[in-house]
Amino acid sequence: MKTTKYLLAALAALVFVGCSSRIDASLPATVKDGTITLKTPARAPGQVHAIGLAADPIDTVRIGFIGLGMRGDDAVRRYSFIEGTKTVALCDLYPDRVSKAQVFLSSKGLPEAAGYDGEDGWKALCERSDVDLVYICTDWKHHTPMAVYAMEHGKHVAIEVPAAMSIKECWALVDACERTRKHCIMLENCVYDFFEATVLEMAKAGLFGEIYHVEGAYIHNLDPFWDEYADNWRLLYNAQFRGDNYPTHGIGPVCQLLDIHRKDLMDYVVSMDTDSFNGKKLAAEKLGTEDFANGDHTVSLIRTQRGKQIEIQHNVYAARPYSRMYQATGTEGFANKYPVKGLAIKGKAITRKQEGLDYDRLDGERFVPKEVYDALMDEYKPSYIREIEQKAREVGGHGGMDFIMDSRLIYCLRNGLPLDMDVYDAAEWSCLTELSRISIENGSAPVKVPDFTRGDWNR
Ligand SMILES: NC(=O)c1ccc[n+]([C@@H]2O[C@H](COP(=O)([O-])OP(=O)(O)OC[C@H]3O[C@@H](n4cnc5c(N)ncnc54)[C@H](O)[C@@H]3O)[C@@H](O)[C@H]2O)c1
Repeated sequence: MKTTKYLLAALAALVFVGCSSRIDASLPATVKDGTITLKTPARAPGQVHAIGLAADPIDTVRIGFIGLGMRGDDAVRRYSFIEGTKTVALCDLYPDRVSKAQVFLSSKGLPEAAGYDGEDGWKALCERSDVDLVYICTDWKHHTPMAVYAMEHGKHVAIEVPAAMSIKECWALVDACERTRKHCIMLENCVYDFFEATVLEMAKAGLFGEIYHVEGAYIHNLDPFWDEYADNWRLLYNAQFRGDNYPTHGIGPVCQLLDIHRKDLMDYVVSMDTDSFNGKKLAAEKLGTEDFANGDHTVSLIRTQRGKQIEIQHNVYAARPYSRMYQATGTEGFANKYPVKGLAIKGKAITRKQEGLDYDRLDGERFVPKEVYDALMDEYKPSYIREIEQKAREVGGHGGMDFIMDSRLIYCLRNGLPLDMDVYDAAEWSCLTELSRISIENGSAPVKVPDFTRGDWNR
């Protein structure tokens, strides 16, 4: 009996090893009936899930920022407006970026922070005993190693998007969070945009009935920005990798609509890209190479375990207007953000009715009129946004959603609450980067989405 068990285990290991080189994934993979599955690493003995993780309240959240480029520099500015925070350390590869942030702090009358630079300066920042939260705004390749190191040194971490660039990195974040019991949040700001956050409240109230098809995207012509990324990291990454390398703005808000890993789970993904057209031109012009892996337009379709569907698109090369799509189709209603905001909701679902309007005529076939739209957007605006909306719009950061995100994070840390987004959200929303590449490189084959909770979401 024991021998048979060992033989079976050895056979399974051989199948994984045998297939992994063909599929070129960050973890061993198997193929069954055409579907590719990456191995789920075993949870270490004694390690438990981090669903609902809460930590001791922190009176003043002491923050160390790593990466002070476009995003990190603005984060330092935004936090200067948030009560109960203190910027204690700053780090960038380049010392002049640290100095610039120090000048900003002093211009606001705030104390000088400890400064670090160089390729490994961030390690000393993570090792400090007076930092509660490490806030990571570097290029993508540094996100996970920095976050894991910070958690291992007793810090909560907030990581810019995507938090991880491979399935192996997604598991590294999950395991570090479960092991250390430190928060690991991905800074997916789009879930805090006014329309998305309000539509989520409507969805929770059942206005759309059962939502079964959602769409999201990152379609943004980055031509004005390519030269701004430090050492061209973003174009270099895209030159190397096919697939949706920036899925989280699209997938995050719509996964929340489907309550992923609370009431449902992503099952498998199928992706397809176009050839590289503008990408190749960019590479020739800016990198001096003809080789460019990333297709101009990438589309992924995900089916969930409860029979729902998610469509995600990526295009950072096209001469077309910005869009995150953000669309939800339900049994009773519909919401759409780009290119036009609209709600199609049946009159009978609307509780707060205005005089003089014929609600019986609202049948979902067309968008509700402006008066009804405005009333619904006001009624369902989340209270945490209502309380700080004015200040958020003044401080700004993508129209205010960045400030709302930061304020919510600090509110939860100061009150010892679970965060709005957990490490499983970070892993699920980031994992499309590698899964879409694997699907594309294998003829749009279905690829299983790992259950990063290892079954605990449904217990
Ligand atoms: N959520 C959003 O809306 C949003 C918007 C823009 C960018 N981002 C994300 O923010 C991150 C940063 O993007 P960006 O536009 O600021 O890029 P950037 O190139 O302007 O900044 C990256 C910074 O990281 C620094 N860096 C690189 N290696 C480092 C190291 N070893 N130690 C310390 N610092 C190091 C660079 O010097 C640079 O200053 C990316 O992950 C990006 O995807 C998110």
